[in-house]
Amino acid sequence: MVEYIDIHKTFDVPVLRGVTLTVNTGETLSIVGPSGTGKSVLLKTTLGLITPDRGDVRIDGESVFFGGPKVLREIRRKVGYVFQNAALFDSMTVYENVAQGIGEEELKSLSRREVAHRVADALEHVNLSPAVVMGKLPSELSGGMRKRVGLARAFVGRPQIILYDEPVTGLDPVNSALVHRLIERLDDELGATSIVVTHDVEGALAISDRLALLEGGKIRFVGTPDEFRRTDDPLVRSFLDRSAAMASAETLEIH
Ligand SMILES: Nc1ncnc2c1ncn2[C@@H]1O[C@H](COP(=O)(O)OP(=O)(O)OP(=O)(O)O)[C@@H](O)[C@H]1O
Ligand SMILES: [Mg+2]
Repeated sequence: MVEYIDIHKTFDVPVLRGVTLTVNTGETLSIVGPSGTGKSVLLKTTLGLITPDRGDVRIDGESVFFGGPKVLREIRRKVGYVFQNAALFDSMTVYENVAQGIGEEELKSLSRREVAHRVADALEHVNLSPAVVMGKLPSELSGGMRKRVGLARAFVGRPQIILYDEPVTGLDPVNSALVHRLIERLDDELGATSIVVTHDVEGALAISDRLALLEGGKIRFVGTPDEFRRTDDPLVRSFLDRSAAMASAETLEIH
């Protein structure tokens, strides 16, 4: 279980103004909301990558900000993170980048063959041919391929909790569908808890157990996809209308 408790964060201006949200074990919860509203900032607090001015995150009851370094290390071991911009190491091959996701301690206990097997398996899961991409540098890949390498790195460590920041942005429809299926599969097979930050509201409605709308620094609505679609809450309605308009504008651009 992941609990965000009264998270406040101000940079130049207040971004998060008291975010409280509980994500249950095994569920897929998507966080949607306008651009620049603090979705990535909120996701980064989960691993202590950004420290809030006030509030805390608890993972299975352990405090990210007050639990000390040992607790934080344990938390980081069980949480996988798919960064918005893939965040690969430019000077490392795809193989080395993905292997990073296994985590130091486990890496020591595995043979080279086992590591190679895990990396290849992770790449295949995201529809990349290990033989083709393993020796390449990130700069030799397309944006969509880099994104999928980032995904492979996040789940090669078999995390119990996976955080996805815009996992399908920039992917073509085939690979978007693939990533959505992958998120669902990890949920089913590993009982993983997934927190997905996304612009793709239709995709989120399709794969999530619940959605949360972040707007103006707070969670304005949390509910199942059905509750989201059916609510007459004006904030949700206006957000859904704007998202639909943006999605159709994007489709027009592509065709
Ligand atoms: N490290 C930082 N230092 C200063 N300001 C920051 C930092 N990180 C984020 N911000 C600011 O916080 C606000 C929220 O940023 P964030 O990246 O969380 O938005 P977002 O909801 O993820 O947007 P998008 O949908 O475009 O990805 C923005 O105004 C951003 O400029
Ligand atoms: Mg973001």
